[in-house]
Amino acid sequence: MEQYVIKGGTPLKGDVEIGGAKNAALAILAAAVMTDDSVIIRNVPDVRDVNVLLGAIEDIGAHVERIERNVVMINGSTISGLSVDYEYIKKIRASYYLLGALLGKYRRAEVALPGGCDIGTRPIDLHIKGFKALGADVDISYGLISAQAEKLEGAHIYLDKVSVGATINILMAASLSEGKTIIDNAAREPHVVDVANFLNSMGADIRGAGTESIRINGVKKLHGTEYSVIPDQIEAGTFMFAAAATHGDVTVRNVIPKHLEATTAKLLEAGCQVVEFDDAVRVIGTAPLHSTSVTTLPYPGFPTDMQPQMTAVLGLASGVSTVTESIWENRFKYVDELARMGANIRVESNVAIVTGVDHYTGARVQAPDLRAGAALVIAGLAADGITVVDDIYYIQRGYEAFSEKLQRLGATMEKVDSEREIQKFILKVS
Ligand code: UD1
Repeated sequence: MEQYVIKGGTPLKGDVEIGGAKNAALAILAAAVMTDDSVIIRNVPDVRDVNVLLGAIEDIGAHVERIERNVVMINGSTISGLSVDYEYIKKIRASYYLLGALLGKYRRAEVALPGGCDIGTRPIDLHIKGFKALGADVDISYGLISAQAEKLEGAHIYLDKVSVGATINILMAASLSEGKTIIDNAAREPHVVDVANFLNSMGADIRGAGTESIRINGVKKLHGTEYSVIPDQIEAGTFMFAAAATHGDVTVRNVIPKHLEATTAKLLEAGCQVVEFDDAVRVIGTAPLHSTSVTTLPYPGFPTDMQPQMTAVLGLASGVSTVTESIWENRFKYVDELARMGANIRVESNVAIVTGVDHYTGARVQAPDLRAGAALVIAGLAADGITVVDDIYYIQRGYEAFSEKLQRLGATMEKVDSEREIQKFILKVS
């Protein structure tokens, strides 16, 4: 088991290069099997979730090759199985994207019922509603979802709740259906748009992605393409909040500033300076932090995947802030860990009431999930003394070279894998 060990208190300074969006890459890699031609995808982050999905894609018989660290080639012509094993799906929910991709291409698919980060109940009723509307029979039994169809036909689908996963899964299956599909109340997240652009580059006919009504004219076949994944707005936001918490001055590069507007707005409210460039954002967090309020919402609202990192920052802001989580009901589990570092946070239902403290103090804490793990690292970077973050396995699901990037910004931290190495680090820095 690896840990991050951090000596906090150094303001982060410098430039950091943001990688490809994990959540876009997961959907795009799954969609790549929808043609028998080769597909080359660039800007794929080298993170655990992506690597697990690539394992699942290989396991059903597709050819997968990492040409370079961030370039992947997939050829789906050799697919021999349409059943995605529980071994993969229990590690990443996103392997359910293979359901939409395989159903579209082969009219049949089967995946185990998904697991994933434990941040709330994660139903898939809307995915199923969409597949059924397209004409598939969907059955759940023995822990598996099976979908099959003689024929997939376009339909008008209203999503009762905005769901990124359901929008993308339906988008994939509908691309290879007959006729026209309309998805209403669709998710508008940048990675939904990225998946639609990717599918269009393979010959799909999707319009309106990025709005709440997406129209898809089914096509018979998709073809090979070369495509580059958009930058990761959550990785970018994490570094922006790390800059704020440490009173640093960080420029995050290779980003689309428009995707970061909600994060930028909250940092401005908290008293930071934010300067936007064409493809970079600079955060100067030298002034004292102020309290503010935030509610997570579907895009363009404040992303739930930035909620723990934002809370870690507000824990150091003067006054009382509120953080309302409206997407996942169990996303405050990290608060107890932050409290061990001196944070003063009370959770009432889906609202965290955060009374700012002057400083955090280093402690041994456990990452309960991916983004909460990143929030604990941010707190550790800002804290007095030494913080050890256990279970960084979760953090590695979504951040490529996290400690290396932070070290380049001046952080005193290391990735270690034994108590002896923790002690060695402490001796070295004290
Ligand atoms: C994706 C992201 C995740 C992020 C979330 C919300 C990936 C791999 N993961 O997850 O990091 O936190 O978007 O931005 O992209 N819901 C239903 N029925 C469904 C599907 C969802 O009720 O069939 C509900 C969920 O319980 C949740 C809300 O809809 O309350 C949003 O979920 P959704 O957007 O589907 O999240 P994911 O796609 O799983």
